[in-house]
Amino acid sequence: MPVQIIVGAQWGDEGKGKIVDMLAENVDIVARYQGGANAGHTVCIGPKEYILHLIPSGIFHPSITCVIGNGVVIDPAALMSEIDQLGTAGISIDNRLLISHNAHLIMPYHKLLDTIREQAPNRIGTTGRGIGPAYIDKFMRVGIRIVDLLDRDVLARKLRSNIEEKNRILTQVYGETKLDVDSLIAEYQEFDKRIDPYVTDTADYLNTAWKGGRSIIAEGAQGALLDVDHGTYPFVTSSSPTSGGACTGLGIPPTAVSSILGIVKAYSTRVGNGPFPTEQENEVGERLRKSGHEFGATTGRPRRCGWLDMVALRYSMTINGIEQIAITKLDVLDGFDEIRICTGYEANGKRLKTFPTDLQTLARVQPVYESYPGWKQELSGIRDYKDLPANAQRYLETIASLTGIPIRIVSVGPRRDQTILLS
Ligand code: GDP
Ligand code: IMO
Ligand code: MG
Repeated sequence: MPVQIIVGAQWGDEGKGKIVDMLAENVDIVARYQGGANAGHTVCIGPKEYILHLIPSGIFHPSITCVIGNGVVIDPAALMSEIDQLGTAGISIDNRLLISHNAHLIMPYHKLLDTIREQAPNRIGTTGRGIGPAYIDKFMRVGIRIVDLLDRDVLARKLRSNIEEKNRILTQVYGETKLDVDSLIAEYQEFDKRIDPYVTDTADYLNTAWKGGRSIIAEGAQGALLDVDHGTYPFVTSSSPTSGGACTGLGIPPTAVSSILGIVKAYSTRVGNGPFPTEQENEVGERLRKSGHEFGATTGRPRRCGWLDMVALRYSMTINGIEQIAITKLDVLDGFDEIRICTGYEANGKRLKTFPTDLQTLARVQPVYESYPGWKQELSGIRDYKDLPANAQRYLETIASLTGIPIRIVSVGPRRDQTILLS
C-alpha cells in the first residue's frame, strides 16, 4: 500500500516542505490535500530557497508528478504567479502538475471578506488569503470549482450570482463599495486558457496510480492543532490538515494509506491568535525566534515561540495515527543551558490527562515542565545519530518515550543533506 501521509503535528510551519522534498526522492507522486495559499512550505536546495504555497513540495524532483487535490482551495492568481516564479527559476512544471477539476476557487471577494472580518476585535489572525470565506462557499454549496473555469457560460453565470450576493453583504453589512461583476468575469475567464492543460480527475489518477504500484506522498498543509474539527477552535484554519483529511482531500480510500509520518518541530511555534500554553514571551521565545528565523513564510509575521508541548503532541499523535516522527530544527536549540518539555497541564489545582479542546480550559491551563540539560555543540554538520551530543540524544529519546512513537528522521538544518536518518 503505497500512500504515505505527511502531516504537521503542531500549529504548522514544522518544516513539512523540507521533509516532503527530501522524501520525495523515492516516490512517484506528491499530492497536496487541503488548505490553500495560506501555506508557506520552504524548500532549500543548495543556496536557493523556494517558498511554495499551492504547488506540492515534490516539484524540485524532475521525475515527480505533483497533484493539487480536490480538498485544496485554489487562488488562480496565486497559482499562476507560483508557476511563473518556478519557470523563472528554471523549474518546468509541464506535464508534471495535475489540478483536480473538483477543487474550489478562491475569488477576490473571499480575500476581501477575510480581511474585513479580521478587523473585528475577536480576530483569528488569519493569513488574509480568503481561506475561510472560500470554504464557507464550498460547504454552502455555492462555490465555484476549477471545472467551472473551463466553461465560460457556467463561470459567468455562477460568478454573477455569487458576486450579486457578496455585493449585498459588502455594501449592506460592511459599508464597502460594490465589486464590478463584468471585470471580474473577464479576469477569471482569462485563467481558463492557462489552467486547462493541468486540469484532470485527480482522484481517478491517484487511485489508478496506487493500484498500479506507484508510490504517493500525501502532503498536508498547516498542522493538526489548526484542524477545523480537532484544533484549538475557533483559532484554526477552515480545512482538515489531520491525516483523515488526506482521504477526502484526494479521493483515495483509507485502505490505500500505508503509513503516517508526523513532522514535529523540536520546540513549538504558532502564528496568529489563540491559546498556546507553552508560549515563552521572554528571552527564551526571542532566542528561538531569532535562531529559528521564526517569521511566517506567507505573511512575514513573527511567529510566537515556546517549549515543546507533550500534552498537545500526544493528542496530535492520537488523532492523526502518527506511526513515525520526523523531528525538525533540532539545531535551533544549540547552546541553550536548559531545554524544557511540557509534560502535563494543571487547571484549578488538578492535573489534566488529556488535551482540552475547549478554549476556556486551554486558555488557563498551567504547563508543568521537565528540564533537560542542553548541548554546547553545533548540530548542523552532524549526519549520524551516534555523533549527536549525549544531551541531544537524550532529548530525542525523551520525545520518543513520552509520545511512544519512534523517531525516524532528525533535521539539523534547512537543506536536504542536513538530515539524520534513523533505522
Ligand atoms: P512548513 O510550512 O511546515 O513547510 O515550514 P516553513 O517552511 O513555513 O517553516 C520552516 C522553516 O524552517 C523554513 O524556513 C525552513 O527552511 C526551515 N527549516 C526546516 N528544517 C530546518 C532545520 O532542521 N533546521 C533549521 N535551522 N531550519 C529548518
Ligand atoms: P503551513 O502549511 C502556520 C494560521 C493563521 C491563523 C489560522 C487561520 O505553512 O504550515 P487562515 O488564513 O488559514 O484562515 O488562518 O491558521 N495558519 C498557519 N499557521 N502555518 C500555516 O501553514 C498556516 N496556515 C494558516 O496564522 O492563525
Ligand atoms: Mg509554513
